[in-house]
Amino acid sequence: MNVLITGGTGYIGTVLVEEALKAGHTTHVLTRSTAKSQNLEQQGVKVIVGDILQDGLWQQKINEMDAVIHLAAPPTWGKKVTKKVALSYADGHLQLTKRLFEAIDPERLQRLVFVGGTSYFGDSGNQDPKTESFQAEPKGWGPYIAPSIRYAKEKIAAGYPATIVFPAQIYGPSSWMEQLYLQPLFTKKPLTSLKGYRPYFSPIHIEDCARALLHLTEHGEIGEDYIISDLQQLPSAVFRDEIIKIMGVKDPKFREVPRWLCQFILGPVLTEYATAHTNFSSNKLQGTGFKFRYPTYKEGLPQVVKAWLDLQLSN
Ligand SMILES: NC(=O)c1ccc[n+]([C@@H]2O[C@H](COP(=O)([O-])OP(=O)(O)OC[C@H]3O[C@@H](n4cnc5c(N)ncnc54)[C@H](OP(=O)(O)O)[C@@H]3O)[C@@H](O)[C@H]2O)c1
Repeated sequence: MNVLITGGTGYIGTVLVEEALKAGHTTHVLTRSTAKSQNLEQQGVKVIVGDILQDGLWQQKINEMDAVIHLAAPPTWGKKVTKKVALSYADGHLQLTKRLFEAIDPERLQRLVFVGGTSYFGDSGNQDPKTESFQAEPKGWGPYIAPSIRYAKEKIAAGYPATIVFPAQIYGPSSWMEQLYLQPLFTKKPLTSLKGYRPYFSPIHIEDCARALLHLTEHGEIGEDYIISDLQQLPSAVFRDEIIKIMGVKDPKFREVPRWLCQFILGPVLTEYATAHTNFSSNKLQGTGFKFRYPTYKEGLPQVVKAWLDLQLSN
């Protein structure tokens, strides 16, 4: 299959590209960066250099594909997110979404997999896992991706061949897992958590997230929503304790931060994200025949920790 990945140089995209190549797909990536395109070409990727916010060759190429997986989004990770930052993120996200749909000819493209996030559904509570039909007030990043998701839903209702997917907490050897857990444990620094909160967590290994995105290009129904998480939801503290165990740290240090301080350091959006429960089921995804490489964190975390430690030793 000819698949085009927007955001193929990002956190999820990098792994998705590897999985798409491994699965034998002719893999195209849209990137704004000529520097990154050299690396991708060496991997066997067909690169389209372009910016979704500007007209270019990508608008023609997009309709020559069997499937497009849309991951491109404004940057989010690693900085304080004030309301102003979040509003500008929402604006940038929606612009990308509109430009993408404007370029698509629904008569020619077979499938678009549009990537959202479970924060769109809001706080799930910590009781029974919720499904795609759950809708509370969006939390954390949720309110800021909601305009894009509503726009995508309007386009689907008008005949665009798209499926919207909602990954939960994507863990892998970089990004938040490295910053919150792996690096501090390795350097014997304290692990930070929020005082008085024990939020639920719906993990998904980054390779399985990437595999699920590819799977849904062929096995997802047009117009349906799919949550991507693994088979076991759990309190985030249990997930953290398993990392400590695998890393073999005997006396980890902890630093509990009150909500007001978290709000001061990270801003209101990430604080809300960190305090809301994410307890979601991927039964619908499993119903399409998807099989996990790492069905739960028990299988996934040892692989991630090993990959990260190997990288430290090789540097
Ligand atoms: N990370 C998570 O844990 C998580 C969880 C659930 C859902 N999601 C969603 O998944 C999506 C991808 O997340 P991510 O963390 O992988 O993102 P990321 O690492 O921040 O990567 C974003 C990508 O977007 C591309 N991009 C940005 N503006 C562009 C433009 N104008 N034209 C073309 N490409 C553009 C960048 O490519 P170049 O710089 O190469 O052009 C980059 O590869 C987002 O919608 C996010 O909300 C993420």
